[in-house]
Amino acid sequence: MIQYLEKSSIFILETKNTQYVFGIDKAGYNRHLHWGDKCSANDFEYADISGENSYNSMLDEYKQEITPFGSTMYRECAIKARFSDNCREISMHFENYDMDGDILKVNFKDDYYPLRITLCYEVYEAYDIIKRTVTLENIGADNIVFDRIFSAEFSLPSEKPYTFRNTNGAWGGEFIQTDTVLDGGNLVYESRRGASNHNASPYFIAYQNADENSGDVYFASLAYSGNFKVSAGRDVYAVTRISIGMNDFDFSHTLLPGESFCAPPVYCGRARGFGEMSRNMNRFCVDCLLPKQFHDKPLPVLYNSWEATGFDVNAKHQTELAKIAAEMGVELFVMDDGWFGKRNSDRAGLGDWFVNPEKFPNGLDELIENVNRLGMDFGIWVEPEMVNPDSDLYRQHPEWTYHYAHRNADELRNQLVLNMTRSDVQTYIFNCLDELLSKHNIKYIKWDMNRPFSQTGAENLQNPQMYSYLHTMAVYNIVDKLKERYPHVQFESCASGGGRCDLGAISHYDQVWTSDNTDGIDRMTIQKGYSLLHPIKTMRAWVTDIAGINKPCSLDFRFNIAMQGSLGIGGDLTKYTEEDLEICKKNIAFYKSVRNIVQFGDLYRILDIEKDEVLCNEYVSTDKTESILFLAANGTRFYKKKCNLRFAGLDAHKTYSFTLDGIEYKKGGAYLMTVGIPIYVRGADYNRAVVLKTV
Ligand code: GLA
Repeated sequence: MIQYLEKSSIFILETKNTQYVFGIDKAGYNRHLHWGDKCSANDFEYADISGENSYNSMLDEYKQEITPFGSTMYRECAIKARFSDNCREISMHFENYDMDGDILKVNFKDDYYPLRITLCYEVYEAYDIIKRTVTLENIGADNIVFDRIFSAEFSLPSEKPYTFRNTNGAWGGEFIQTDTVLDGGNLVYESRRGASNHNASPYFIAYQNADENSGDVYFASLAYSGNFKVSAGRDVYAVTRISIGMNDFDFSHTLLPGESFCAPPVYCGRARGFGEMSRNMNRFCVDCLLPKQFHDKPLPVLYNSWEATGFDVNAKHQTELAKIAAEMGVELFVMDDGWFGKRNSDRAGLGDWFVNPEKFPNGLDELIENVNRLGMDFGIWVEPEMVNPDSDLYRQHPEWTYHYAHRNADELRNQLVLNMTRSDVQTYIFNCLDELLSKHNIKYIKWDMNRPFSQTGAENLQNPQMYSYLHTMAVYNIVDKLKERYPHVQFESCASGGGRCDLGAISHYDQVWTSDNTDGIDRMTIQKGYSLLHPIKTMRAWVTDIAGINKPCSLDFRFNIAMQGSLGIGGDLTKYTEEDLEICKKNIAFYKSVRNIVQFGDLYRILDIEKDEVLCNEYVSTDKTESILFLAANGTRFYKKKCNLRFAGLDAHKTYSFTLDGIEYKKGGAYLMTVGIPIYVRGADYNRAVVLKTV
């Protein structure tokens, strides 16, 4: 619900549990007034701030929805422009507003220069989520150059320091949670690599006295897969502010007369505890953000050949794997890297998206038909944005890569990045994939991207410093167009594991490859970080032959962990014993029976592997009639751990039955959530999956 108080020019945005309030003061400035619990509308007013000395201006103390560069505002600004006469100050004042149901647009105009700035808010009441964007419009006759365009700015209510949670990671160790107290100065999370990366997530989570179930948690996540920046600061007056958007590092955008630009959207909310935050965002993403083709359908159990075969793929061996996968209950068979061009290693072939005739002398359809005959769908790996210098494509079009004429191009994994801002490159990639999908019965594309950008010269662009945005949009656009033409094809975003995982990717791809690290023990940490602000359903998790790099873990253990997202299998099945195969069969059948709860239910993180030595995640169906509880530990101190397990998210008035360690329970939801049951965790390979059903 959105309300406008005419007398005081105040906008009140209300979601289920939260109120977000801002207004336009008498001087025409945008002023942030409140974010938190609901208050009476008529109580809001603009605090009178007066500058206390010549080094402190009252303007600098304002809490704003967006801070333009200039005047005596020295805090982080959100928008910075250069007008045609080199004036670099924006002086924006309220123009008018437009309210349509749950959408509010507030227009501001520069006092002299022809610039309009529109703040847009969209309220998703039931999900406790608000979407924010900023649109800039050049309404004059001269160019305007922007050095910074952030999507949103936030001011937090409390004067006490907030702790910021983000993820810190690298290839093979993504989504590792960090918590940093911001009691002064600035804190930045960013990507400068051209795309969102493994190192940090394009969001902020700011909290006080919070745990899974309580405390104040504020969050906002940028739906964008290019260079991003989250910049938080706490000033001497104890105001914590955050701005979030495209990174201004190596950034510049020119708006020609009559042009407008809408910055990538941000989704924000306030929750009581991290658990509520994750559940709100999870539901919102599943219902409103994920591509419509598959958002409400359970994702299939897949098999991926990468860890089993590497680049050495051929119809015979893949069919052998497929036969075993089908017997286990796999629904989608994905052939990974190695099937195209002269791709025998990572040194050659990228860019040549035609079937390798030596590996597949009878074409791709022989394998696809085998897979289909076994009752499975077929999927395939591609890395469309890249090219190996050793490829026909590069030999024909060296000018299609990002490069500078008088600099060497740095190769990473022996590859260069294609300049996707060029329309001929976009057409080439679209046509290659279109041909692949139109000629073959392919139901799934794993879209990989295995290096960050460098030498991002793009002579085709008036302003090459816009490359990250334009490249990202080109990728989204091709995926969208393919999805429209082939609505039955699922897309997965992969970038050397979880290097392109953000709400932008999730708005276009149906799922994400979480990490190349498939070690069941490391995955407990990686998956927890993923679950903070990303939807569970999109989290692809495979069971492979990596049986614990640091400590051994059994096949059952690995299944227990991988089942907590969208399950995949990735081992060399030809080496599995009869007993292994039975374990796989049993677990896959079990997963299918509970995957609707995992993929569409609410996650409660009950015990934390790092803090509690035991991982306990409970997924509850939305109607609370069923729940699946996963327990895992890779060894506890002093050989054992006894604790009382209190369930969460159940219906207090319903009775649930379940069996754990041979004991049959039939208890009320209230009892299970407040008293709980004793558990006794022993051994290095402890794993349990418990299904609760209402009686
Ligand atoms: C990346 C991906 C892997 C695999 C390889 C293939 O590393 O993350 O899953 O697809 O590329 O080269």
